[in-house]
Amino acid sequence: MERKSFDLVVIGAGPGGYVAAIRAAQLGLKVACVEKEAALGGTCLRIGCIPSKALLESSELFHQAKHNFAQHGISVGEPKLELATLLKRKDQVVQTLTGGIDFLFKKNKVTRIKGTAAFISKNILKIEGADAGEIEGKNIIIATGSKATVLPGIELDGTNIGTSTEALAYSTVPRHLVVIGAGYIGLELGSVWLRLGSKVTVVEFLDRILPGMDQEIATMAQKIFEKQGFVFKLGHKVKAVKRAGEECVVECEGVDPIKADKVLVAVGRAPNTDGLGLDKIGIKLDSRKRVEVNHRFETSVKNVFAIGDVIAGPMLAHKAEEEGIACVEFIAGKQGHVDYNSIPGVAYTHPEIASVGKTEEQLVAEKVSFKKGVFSFKANGRAQALADTEGKVKILADAETDRILGVHIIGPRAGDLIAEAAIAIAFKASSEDIAISSHAHPTLAEAFKEAAMAVHNRAIHS
Ligand code: NAI
Repeated sequence: MERKSFDLVVIGAGPGGYVAAIRAAQLGLKVACVEKEAALGGTCLRIGCIPSKALLESSELFHQAKHNFAQHGISVGEPKLELATLLKRKDQVVQTLTGGIDFLFKKNKVTRIKGTAAFISKNILKIEGADAGEIEGKNIIIATGSKATVLPGIELDGTNIGTSTEALAYSTVPRHLVVIGAGYIGLELGSVWLRLGSKVTVVEFLDRILPGMDQEIATMAQKIFEKQGFVFKLGHKVKAVKRAGEECVVECEGVDPIKADKVLVAVGRAPNTDGLGLDKIGIKLDSRKRVEVNHRFETSVKNVFAIGDVIAGPMLAHKAEEEGIACVEFIAGKQGHVDYNSIPGVAYTHPEIASVGKTEEQLVAEKVSFKKGVFSFKANGRAQALADTEGKVKILADAETDRILGVHIIGPRAGDLIAEAAIAIAFKASSEDIAISSHAHPTLAEAFKEAAMAVHNRAIHS
C-alpha cells in the first residue's frame, strides 16, 4: 500500500483521541485516526462510562419500582427483571454513540485507519490489521488510553474472575459478587448488581472507600451504601483469587477466605504504552510507565505528543478531551489551555458523589486557612419533592479572599450540579458571588447557593 501522509495522525479513538482528531480537522489539518477496535469511542464509550451509566439507570429504575414507587401511591406489584433486555438496551446505547463518532469523522473529513499502530520512526507508523501498511504524520498524538490493572495472584478467567468489561455483561445476576477495590468502578458496578439482587462485598486495601475524595463526604457515602446493603471489608489486602469449580475464592491477608460466584477486580488502571515502539524512538516514560509531556503535551521526541490516560493526571474522559483540544490548538499554532484545578470527578452511584478542587484534607495539609459552608439536601424543597434527600453540599472557601477552593457534593444529580461549581472555580468566583446569584426555585441547585451562604453563616433554610 502506498504510504499516506497526514498533518496529524492520532493513535486511539477514545474521548481524547477522537476529540483531538475532530478539533484538528476543524482547524484545517489533514487528519487520520488509527483505532484497532471495530467501534470508535475507546474504553469510555464501548466498555466504560457509557455502558455503565446505561446499566446504572436501568438498575436504579428497577430498584425504584421495587422499593420507592409505593410511597408515591403507585402500586406495580413485584417487578420482574428481564436481564437480557436490560443488557440489550445498554448495547444499543453504546452502538448509537460509537456510530455517532463514525458520522462525526466523516462530517469533519477525518480519515479512519483500522488497525494497530506502532512507531517505525518518529513520524512513520506501521499499521497491522484491516488497513495494514505504513502512514506518515507530520505530527503524531499518542492517545492510547489505559487498561485495568490486575493484582499478582489473580488470574482473570474472562468469566467469573474479571474486570469491569465482564461486569458490564454478566448474563445472570450473581448470587454473591465480590468487588476488589472501593474506587469509582467498584462502587458503580457494585451498585448495579446490588440493585439487581446480588449480595455485594467490597474488599478494599485502605481503611476507607473512595481514596482521594473528601473524607467527610466519603464517610457519609459509606454509611449510605451500607444501608443499601453493600458489605465493606476495609483494610483487607487481597493475596489471591482462585477458582474452585464454579466458585471463586478470594484470599486476603490474615482473615478467612471469601467465597463468591463472581469477582470484579477494580484496583485501578495502567497506561497503554506497551507495543507502541516508544523505546525505539526514545520517548521517555515515568516510573509508572506514563508518557512524560510538558504543558504543550510534547513528549521527549519532537512532533510527537501524548494526551489522556496515557499521561499523568486523573484518568477521566473529560480530562482527556480537554487535553486533546488544547494539544491540537498548540499544533495549529494557537494557544491551548487546560485548567487542572477545575476538573470535576463524579461517581454515578445513588446518591451521586461529585467533587472539584481541593478536599478539606488537602487544604489542611497545605496549611491554607479556609471557611466551610455545608447545606443538607433534607432542607431543599426539590429534593423533598423528589423523595431523594440524602446528602449535602460542602463548599470550601479561602478564609481571607473568600475564593472557592473546593466543592464536594453527595446527593441527587450531584454529577450535574458539580458543573456550576467547576465553572465557579474556573472563573475564580468567591462564595459571595454564588450567594448573591439567583438560582431558580425549586431546584437542587439552590442547595449550592445555600452552601455558599452558609460559608458566611447566613443560609436561610438551615
Ligand atoms: P480507583 O483508583 O478509583 O480505585 C481502586 C481502589 O482499589 C482503591 O481504593 C485502592 O485502594 C484499591 N486497591 C488497590 N489494590 C488493592 C488490593 N490489593 N486489595 C484491595 N483493594 C485494592 O480505580 P478504579 O475504580 O479501578 O477506576 C480506574 C480509573 O477509572 C480511575 O482513575 C477512575 O477515575 C476512572 N473511572 C472513572 C469513573 C467516573 O468518572 N465515574 C468511572 C470509572 C472509572
